[in-house]
Amino acid sequence: MSTTPARHVLKISDLASDELAGVLALASAPIAATPLANQGAALVFEHPSARTRNAAEMAVVQLGGHPITIRAEEVGLDRRETVEDVARTLGSYHRVIGARVARHHTLERMVAALSARPHPVSVVNLLSDVEHPSQALADLLTIAQCFGSLAGRSVAYVGDANNVCRSLVDAAVMTGVEMRVAAPEGYQLGPDDLERAVRLSREAGLGGTLRQVASPEEAAEGAEVLYTDVWVSMGQEHEAAQRRSDLAPYQINEALIARAAPGVVVLHCLPAHRGEEITEGALEGANSRIFEQAENRMHALRGLLAFLVGSS
Ligand code: CP
Ligand code: NVA
Repeated sequence: MSTTPARHVLKISDLASDELAGVLALASAPIAATPLANQGAALVFEHPSARTRNAAEMAVVQLGGHPITIRAEEVGLDRRETVEDVARTLGSYHRVIGARVARHHTLERMVAALSARPHPVSVVNLLSDVEHPSQALADLLTIAQCFGSLAGRSVAYVGDANNVCRSLVDAAVMTGVEMRVAAPEGYQLGPDDLERAVRLSREAGLGGTLRQVASPEEAAEGAEVLYTDVWVSMGQEHEAAQRRSDLAPYQINEALIARAAPGVVVLHCLPAHRGEEITEGALEGANSRIFEQAENRMHALRGLLAFLVGSS
């Protein structure tokens, strides 16, 4: 058993840029090795999931491991027992704990609780209010499949600069992408996000850029990829009416597609709300690679888990 400390991915920037490239390479490679043979992965969900749960379970199976999905109410995080006690207990059976959490800090508490363990247990963020790193890996994989490369591609994210956007921006600047984000006031990336993007781009040295603009048209102009996510994320249901009103001009529709580069690729992490952040025509049209992107969630998670298990 390895004595190297476990690696965790709570944010995309927990990977160095060469490691991110390595994860994408593993995700693209044929399924061969079984580094999780005779080991388990506990997948804890505080919020619902279609893609992430199924993609993660199948990725674990493809790596020879055994996944156990646990709805948060079963273990009662901080209700039945503390997050720390749940993490330590699950860590005694499993090589990996994947968790979808309402508050990012819950993941950090899991990592801290596992730090004294003699055997490595990796924690993977399966979506928090701050980041969705395994989604960003699938997004890059999809863009690379569509264009054959990442560096120099132009990607416009339109809508709420949320968890999905934050991970996508970081992954993009780490791989040399020209990233544009169009979000209304109150929904934009913060100063910390902008500073981190500059630092990650500099460290990667691949020429990645981030430009935040107010107008979706400006972001879309000549872009090779148009990307959006829901206007009301899980846990924000009480703000739904205000969000729908504020974000209404930030829809991916046929008019926005017409401003983008010919052959623009339309992406959405799903679930989608047709007629809100994206029109039916944009989602189902010839430019959409949204369901290829959904499939790539599984390949991306397989690459990420293979990297983590191989690194500690
Ligand atoms: N994109 C994504 O994370 O989908 P689920 O919420 O269905 O897992
Ligand atoms: N931003 C969305 C993503 C869903 C996959 C949410 O957090 O609900």
